Amino acid sequence: MVEAQSPINLWGKRLVLGVTGSIAAYKAVGLLRSLVCEGATVSVAMTQAATKFVTPLTFEVLSGRRVATDLFESREEMAHLALPGQAHAVIVAPATANFLAKAAIGLADDLLSTMLLNARCPVIVAPAMDGDMWAHPTVMQHVQLLRARGVVVLDPEVGPLASGQVAQGRLPTELSILDAVQKALISQLDWRGQRVLVSAGPTQEPIDPVRFISNRSSGKMGYAIAEAARDRGAEVILVTGPSSLTPPSGVTAVSVNTASEMSDALSRHFPSSTVLIMAAAVADFRPKVSAGQKLKKQGKSELVIELEATPDILATLSLRRTSQIVVGFAAETEHVLSHAKDKLRGKGLDLIIANDVSRADGGFGSDDNAVVILSATGEQKVLELMPKRRLADEILTTVRELCLVSPRRESLVE
Ligand code: C5P
Repeated sequence: MVEAQSPINLWGKRLVLGVTGSIAAYKAVGLLRSLVCEGATVSVAMTQAATKFVTPLTFEVLSGRRVATDLFESREEMAHLALPGQAHAVIVAPATANFLAKAAIGLADDLLSTMLLNARCPVIVAPAMDGDMWAHPTVMQHVQLLRARGVVVLDPEVGPLASGQVAQGRLPTELSILDAVQKALISQLDWRGQRVLVSAGPTQEPIDPVRFISNRSSGKMGYAIAEAARDRGAEVILVTGPSSLTPPSGVTAVSVNTASEMSDALSRHFPSSTVLIMAAAVADFRPKVSAGQKLKKQGKSELVIELEATPDILATLSLRRTSQIVVGFAAETEHVLSHAKDKLRGKGLDLIIANDVSRADGGFGSDDNAVVILSATGEQKVLELMPKRRLADEILTTVRELCLVSPRRESLVE
């Protein structure tokens, strides 16, 4: 089981630390220090009440990032959307009874509560309050509601409280909060043990030493898939055509130019991979002959370049597979679903991701995309327009559900 494995550090993890207005807010300073020392990038969001106990400057210096306190402060930054959207986990420590109530009913009247509604990652809440407040039926009800919704609400510790009371209400220890964060992150590592081969970007097919045939692919979708697979614990090899993007750290990147180079690189890594996701826009045709020197225009009124088909890498690898899951993309401008279905069958794939690249709001070069995933066993999943990084996670979740957790491969066998 994943839980039994050695603890992960927080290197490369993006966290949001929400601080609310309890006297225990000073303990959030130590927590922030520990999270940063473990390697996490932490963005702190404070409620107005929290700023009465500890100054935002303290968190700003220790996190090295601007502290978000006001929903209306800098609208261009959209911190209430951007921070939780990119976070691997949101931690609220300390969480007051007021915060628990707002979170339970979905109120969004300040920055932190609005952030929470935008979070799609694990949320860990560490309450701190007076003992009578914690024991109040309303607070208990809110805690139950939050837990039922999947929020990790830690139990406060029993001990002396600021009021002088000895009761349950102390902020859970830093160790137990860190432990809960680690557990939540480990449960996200659902691709651990997989070796994922991802192709991305266009290919360039030379006409002569200075000219080539290529396409509009930016590589954004493939790079997002590589990053998402890495974040979910997979070992990732990214075979990339020319792209202005920087490969995600922790991923083995192999740069290629032509379809033939891409084919060689993928063929080398395919046998030891468990999943191939072919997001590259491989050129379908290339010049039959690539001139050794730059072609000159003198005396010519036209130039005919003869093209030949490139090898279909995906179809070839699919034929060679042993137990690999093979996923392709179908970038189409018309009859998107029927063309995608033909490719799914024709290339012998497990899944195909149908992508209407004629849309102005998605497709090549865009930061967003909308796709339909079709499986060889007849399932269909529509994924509406969303950022490519979030879409990458949805694609990985679908691949995992349909092919890795409950594989239904029988129908692939003719
Ligand atoms: O046939 P079409 O090019 O539309 O198929 C798209 C899928 O096939 C994509 O996953 C693409 O990466 C892959 N492909 C390939 N080799 C080619 C052309 C496309 O692997 N020569």
